[in-house]
Parts: sequence; C-alpha cells; structure tokens
Amino acid sequence: MADRPVLLEALGVTKTFAGERGLFGLGPSKPPTPVLHGVDLVMDYGEVTGLIGESGSGKTTFGKCLLRIVEPDGGTIKLQGEDWRGVEPKALQAARAKYQMIYQNPYACLNPGLTISAHLRETLKVFQGITGTAAVDRVGEELGRFGMRDKAGSYPGELSGGEKRRVSVARTLLTKPSLVVADEPTSGLDASVKADVLDRMLDARDADTAYLFISHDLDVIRFVSDRILVMYRGRIVERMEKDRIDPELPHHPYTIRLFEAARADIPTEEESRAMAAAADLPIDTNVGCPYRGLCQIWNDRGRPEDDCASVRPELVSIHSMQRVACHVLAEQASVESPSASSQETSP
Ligand SMILES: Nc1ncnc2c1ncn2[C@@H]1O[C@H](COP(=O)(O)OP(=O)(O)O)[C@@H](O)[C@H]1O
Ligand code: SF4
Ligand SMILES: [Mg+2]
Repeated sequence: MADRPVLLEALGVTKTFAGERGLFGLGPSKPPTPVLHGVDLVMDYGEVTGLIGESGSGKTTFGKCLLRIVEPDGGTIKLQGEDWRGVEPKALQAARAKYQMIYQNPYACLNPGLTISAHLRETLKVFQGITGTAAVDRVGEELGRFGMRDKAGSYPGELSGGEKRRVSVARTLLTKPSLVVADEPTSGLDASVKADVLDRMLDARDADTAYLFISHDLDVIRFVSDRILVMYRGRIVERMEKDRIDPELPHHPYTIRLFEAARADIPTEEESRAMAAAADLPIDTNVGCPYRGLCQIWNDRGRPEDDCASVRPELVSIHSMQRVACHVLAEQASVESPSASSQETSP
C-alpha cells in the first residue's frame, strides 16, 4: 500500500464560464465569469476534506471540475497517479465508478417511476456490468447498511426527505468509489435527520474512500472533516487541520466571518450595512487582496496603500497545521514564530 500513488493531486485548477448572448442570441452578451483562480487540493485514501465558503464562491464548480462533470480550463488533475484530464471522453463514464458525486439535490436524480431497488441495480449495471441475482444481493446488502432494506420495493415518492438522501448516498457508495465529492448532502434536512444521514454515510464508507465534503454549514464540516479548505471567490484563503478549527485561534478574516455567521446564522443589520457600503466602493480585485473590501483588519486600518492593496496574498504557513492567504497574519506569524514556514510538512 505504501508505494501506491496519492489518490488525488489537483494543482492550479481554473475555470471561467463563457459569456452568453441574451435570449434568442439578442441583447447584450454577458461577460465571461471567472469562477476558479488556480485551486490546489491533494487528498489521500480515506481522508475527509471539508470545503466551505459562501454561496457562489465556486465550491460546486470545483467539485465538478475535479470529476470532469464540468471541464476545467487549466491546471493538472491526477487521480491515482493517472492524468485525469487526459482521459478520453468515451472512457470517462467507466472511470467514474471510482470517482462519484453526491448531488446537492438528490430528488432530481431519482426517477419517480422506478423503485429504489431498480435505481440501485441500474447503477450496478451501468458502472460495473453486474445484473441478476448478484445485483439484487448487492443492492440488498447496501440498503441494509443504510437501514433501508425494507424500502427496496418503494418508489421515491413514498420516502421521506432523509430516506431519499440515504438512498442517494447508498447509490453513490454502491460502486465502492475511491473518491466521493459530496455537495451539500445534508442541506435542507432538520438536525436529527442530518446527523443520521452523516453517521450512516461515514459508517458505511470503505476505509479507503476519501470525501471532498462541500457545505456552507460549518457545524457539519467540523463534524466530518479531517481538514478544511475555505474558499472565497474561487480561491482558497485558508487550509487548516481539524485541530485548528477553533474560532479562538487566529484565522483569515473571511474564515472569522464564516465562524461568526455560523453563530449568528444571519448577518446583523449593522454587518449587512457595512458589507453593502464596502461593496459600493470601487475596489479593483484584480490587484491586491480580493477580500480587502470586506476585510475588518484593512478597513480598521483606514484602507492604506500597502501590500493588501497591491500584492495578491498566497497561502503561507502560519502554523504546522494551518495556512492562510493573508499578509497581516503571515507577518504576525513570522514575528511570533520565525520558523513557522519550516514546520510545514504537507502541501
Ligand atoms: N454552468 C454555469 N454557467 C455560468 N456560470 C455558472 C455555471 N455554474 C456556476 N456558475 C457561476 O459560478 C459561480 C460559482 O457557482 P458555484 O460553483 O455553484 O458556487 P457554490 O457552490 O459555492 O455556491 C456563481 O457565480 C455561478 O453563477
Ligand atoms: S491580506 Fe490584508 S486585506 Fe486581505 S485578508 Fe489579510 S489583512 Fe485583510
Ligand atoms: Mg454549490
């Protein structure tokens, strides 16, 4: 096992959605939307990486780019040592048995006219060519792991929201994938159902299965993840190991805002006003730190023409288990601990 290649090595992944013409090709064309600006992710077997960020920050696009459900524009992606971007389109479907996605809205993926057993047997047939009694046995076993064996003959419309999620997770794990991108798999569920789905998901996985777990729910991410990536407008602004997921420790100002939003649920009126005011100010996010318009530190210091305004911050180590893209935190860390960057061991 020791000499097998790392499961996933994605470096500098970029994506810009092309601009579109208006309805019927008339009207002004929309400008292209740059969504990912060079995102890195290295994951090994059995690891759970949480990806958090506000709605629209590019989390889903990144997950889809990793699996080539959306084609990335740039960067390299290696899966089990193989150049994944070089795999021919016709070979992708078969290869995807090992790399699966749990979609944000599983209902859309369930055909109301098919029983749960039929859905799962179809997955086995398409990805692994397994049919007949072998398929029935595998499906029964998988549903059993999710406490759903008695629902094999039910139709999607007869299941609760939580049960539908469990079916969609069971279907994903059926092919024993090495990597699962789980996109908000518990959004919209109430707390007890959410906990049940998460528990079953983590219990049922193969010890080797790695997850990229996407959510805007910090509690969920904290519960499931070995490490967290924080994405802001298509860039990773912080990467921390589980032990650093603590609001009392130093964090990127954007991460702090996510921690605060998780506590308060919604921004206060004052915060909303401050954010709206900041959004109105003309700030060129192509230079300097893209977060500075909303950054408490930079705004508190009176918006100086310093590195925040002119130099794009890169992810640097401020602790052996934490990297941030922030000039101020990097400087504080190097003042407090000149050897911080030499403690870094992982990418
Ligand atoms: N197919 C698409 N075409 C054009 N723009 C898209 C497409 N998919 C996503 N986007 C845009 O990309 C940005 C990031 O979206 P998304 O990856 O869904 O973010 P998140 O999952 O973090 O909410 C948004 O501005 C969204 O409108
Ligand atoms: S680099 Fe400057 S503007 Fe950006 S988050 Fe850090 S302090 Fe704020
Ligand atoms: Mg999303």
